[in-house]
Amino acid sequence: MTEPALTLRPATWADCERLFAWVNSPDSLRNKRLTRSTIPYETHRQWLERRLAAPDVILLIAEERGLPVGQVRLEARDDAHEVDIFVIAEARGRGIAAAAIEDALGRLWHRDADAKARALVRRDNTASARLFERLGFSRVGVDGDHTLYERAPAQGAA
Ligand SMILES: CC(C)(COP(=O)(O)OP(=O)(O)OC[C@H]1O[C@@H](n2cnc3c(N)ncnc32)[C@H](O)[C@@H]1OP(=O)(O)O)[C@@H](O)C(=O)NCCC(=O)NCCS
Repeated sequence: MTEPALTLRPATWADCERLFAWVNSPDSLRNKRLTRSTIPYETHRQWLERRLAAPDVILLIAEERGLPVGQVRLEARDDAHEVDIFVIAEARGRGIAAAAIEDALGRLWHRDADAKARALVRRDNTASARLFERLGFSRVGVDGDHTLYERAPAQGAA
């Protein structure tokens, strides 16, 4: 049987160091809203422990032919689920982020058909802005350096 090119699986404790490396990569930090300096390992470990224990957090690892290439996270904040996405530089431009976000949104809406998804995209992050626009997110406002994008479940329902 042929292995599917891209699969999404829930993150586990075994992904702790991988996620630590990814979150501290310069292009990840540059695009965060609140965290701009390198995250210490212990802070990350405690952060991941809470996320893995939280029933409402969707945290998935994207694997291309079995190799981890990125992560997507949906986490409730205020009245929406915020999207956090990262794909390793070598795997970009192949639709991995788009597929990972669609997969995560499908899981979210399976669980809560009314949940709204939100993304905060730095104004100079053209790749990310294009990504969310292609995924049917609408620009709904601005928060400092970031543009707010939202997608309601009705648009997601095929
Ligand atoms: C943003 C990011 C997740 C995109 O990942 P990706 O797997 O390359 O994205 P995809 O291949 O699914 O591309 C989705 C769309 O973005 C476009 N895109 C990807 N890289 C781009 C770039 N450097 N410049 C312009 N558009 C770009 C693609 O062309 C595609 O649009 P199209 O279908 O119209 O061609 C990735 O660059 C990344 O991890 N960046 C660092 C972290 C980050 O910025 N996260 C987002 C924070 S909001």
